[in-house]
Amino acid sequence: MKVLALETSCDETSAAVVRDGRVLANVVSSQIALHAEYGGVVPELATREHLRNLMPVAQAALREAAVTPASLDAVAATRGPGLPSALLVGLRAAQAVAFALGKPFLGVHHHEAHLYSPWIGGEPPCADFTAFQPNVSLVVSGGHTLLVLVEAELRHRLLGSTVDDAAGECFDKVAKLIGLPYPGGPALDRLAQEGNARAFDFPRPMLSDPDDDFSFSGLKTSVRYFLRDHQEILDDGNRLRDLCASVQSAIVDVLVGKTIKAARRCGVRCVTASGGVTCNSSLRAELVAACQRDGFTPRLAERAFCTDNAAMVGVLAERKLTSGVAPSDLDEEIQPSWAL
Ligand code: KG4
Ligand code: ZN
Repeated sequence: MKVLALETSCDETSAAVVRDGRVLANVVSSQIALHAEYGGVVPELATREHLRNLMPVAQAALREAAVTPASLDAVAATRGPGLPSALLVGLRAAQAVAFALGKPFLGVHHHEAHLYSPWIGGEPPCADFTAFQPNVSLVVSGGHTLLVLVEAELRHRLLGSTVDDAAGECFDKVAKLIGLPYPGGPALDRLAQEGNARAFDFPRPMLSDPDDDFSFSGLKTSVRYFLRDHQEILDDGNRLRDLCASVQSAIVDVLVGKTIKAARRCGVRCVTASGGVTCNSSLRAELVAACQRDGFTPRLAERAFCTDNAAMVGVLAERKLTSGVAPSDLDEEIQPSWAL
């Protein structure tokens, strides 16, 4: 089966072609530079940019995959959650293409798609990822922080999520407090690599709570108060790097600690991670180390598939359609707030 997939839920315009579980092309046009001057994603600008870029991006994906529209078997798009007007661009375009070709259309859940991204590419390549099920999956980005139990193929249960800010939002807001440009997560990661993570002690919110929920807004606030009382740190490169390493360590401790605790309780063999924050060097290293200590097989999405991409949408759509899930109606609506 050959699927064209579109993803426009936030600030990445992406199109991918997937055939029989293999990604033939995955083209991503990022809008980061556009939103940087506003310090965050501006929905109206994101929507206009999707409208401008989606067709060129889709054409590039088809060209790279050497696939003609007529030879496609299905068209898929992210239906939600995400920015309403941004979602509309990709969903309506995919429905129109499916209508014109007379092929089935499937709208998919953005977070469910993230659950499949650790199986795209990766070393070693995975021919049969059902062998790694059940697994506990951390989905962590600028918009969401979820712990999910993947019980079996296309069957999963949400264990917990953030009650306030997402982990990526915490990275970005702390980065903004110390003057790094949006989105600050990657820059904070780079500074933290040269800092001492034990220099300052920040709270590990909800780490010891029995449930699987997260909270990151208090951590951000404690960094704000810390900086109010220690403004001199902003002009001291070494201590600034220590601050970055200390904040990052608090976020990573919570993410890793809660993921491993859930994996132990659920009795799984494998732990997976995806979403933009999974690009973080410390999270990757600490999660793999913790899995090895506890005997879990780690499977982290490759960095290129951590951030939003259409490949994961195509992989999930193909699995669904080949498993007998019915195609969606061509007038199916977006679902901006869609619980997993
Ligand atoms: O998945 P994504 O591209 O978009 C959504 O939010 O859905 O994730 C973007 C988030 C941003 O908050 C960004 O700062 C964070 O992922 N991020 C990182 C790193 N790379 C991306 N956070 C910490 N360290 C990184 N290396
Ligand atoms: Zn995402």
